[in-house]
Amino acid sequence: MSDIEAKILYNTQVAEKCFRMSILAPDIIKNASPGQFVMIKPWPCLDPLLMRPFSIHRIKDNSLEILYMVVGKTTFMLSGMSASQKLRIRGPLGKGFKFNQNKKTVFFVAGGIGVAPLIFLLEKYYLNKNNIFNDYQLYFFLGASTKDMLFCRDDLSHINAMFATDNGSKGFYGQVTALMDKTMQSGISPDIIYSCGPAPMLRSLAETALKYNIECQLSMEETMACGIGACLGCAVKLTSGEYVAACQKGPVFMAKEIQWD
Ligand SMILES: Cc1cc2nc3c(=O)[nH]c(=O)nc-3n(C[C@H](O)[C@H](O)[C@H](O)COP(=O)(O)OP(=O)(O)OC[C@H]3O[C@@H](n4cnc5c(N)ncnc54)[C@H](O)[C@@H]3O)c2cc1C
Ligand code: FES
Repeated sequence: MSDIEAKILYNTQVAEKCFRMSILAPDIIKNASPGQFVMIKPWPCLDPLLMRPFSIHRIKDNSLEILYMVVGKTTFMLSGMSASQKLRIRGPLGKGFKFNQNKKTVFFVAGGIGVAPLIFLLEKYYLNKNNIFNDYQLYFFLGASTKDMLFCRDDLSHINAMFATDNGSKGFYGQVTALMDKTMQSGISPDIIYSCGPAPMLRSLAETALKYNIECQLSMEETMACGIGACLGCAVKLTSGEYVAACQKGPVFMAKEIQWD
């Protein structure tokens, strides 16, 4: 797969250190599905040399959006870019979420910026132009350290969204996995769970899913240098004992496939 140069359409700050960028990329979005990602770097640019992975957050007309947090050099550079400037971009990459139309009660569980691919999943398969398909029961659990880090709250206003913050500044006081457990204890049981977020959250979720025998698909955001299976820097251990490249076999895996220690 070759890299292309693509034009930025907009790059809007949505919260402190969080930006939503739209990129004109008709050839990439043609085959893109929720959970897949793109590798990106500002262009032209020799430092940093390597591209960085970002989930596809949304697709509109000929463009895709990414939602990103400024954490280091590349994301800092991206945050300073504006419409008409160019990026180097490769994608769509990896294996995304598997949609199962027979699973009617659906839990989405996001931690922080992990909300990015789940919005694409929600919008592609579960919302129609009136914003919901009635034959699904959708529950969106969004967790973050503070209220200001609960990104995309406005995108969730038309579904049953529940929030958790580590400092109690919005919603449930505690971890999003505890909020999900509490909801299950109240009698709502999911047929399927989709999740993306920090590794400890995914691990906790996987334990719950295995305990109750619920299908659970997790996006594992390992550090990735190439995104195409060439560097083996993103190895994930499976219960079979095999190590696989998360960028090729994932980033989305079934919870039951992952060997956590
Ligand atoms: C499949 C995939 C999808 C991703 N999707 C998104 C997304 O939609 N939005 C988003 O903001 N980020 C996403 N990430 C993480 C993103 O790739 C990193 O934040 C980015 O590479 C940081 O680049 P940088 O040059 O700014 O920072 P660097 O200088 O490379 O790193 C800065 C700090 O961030 C840490 N870091 C780097 N990569 C990761 C990672 N994958 N997870 C946790 N910490 C990391 C580094 O250890 C370091 O401490 C995704 C990662 C993967 C693998
Ligand atoms: S990032 Fe290079 S093999 Fe996965």
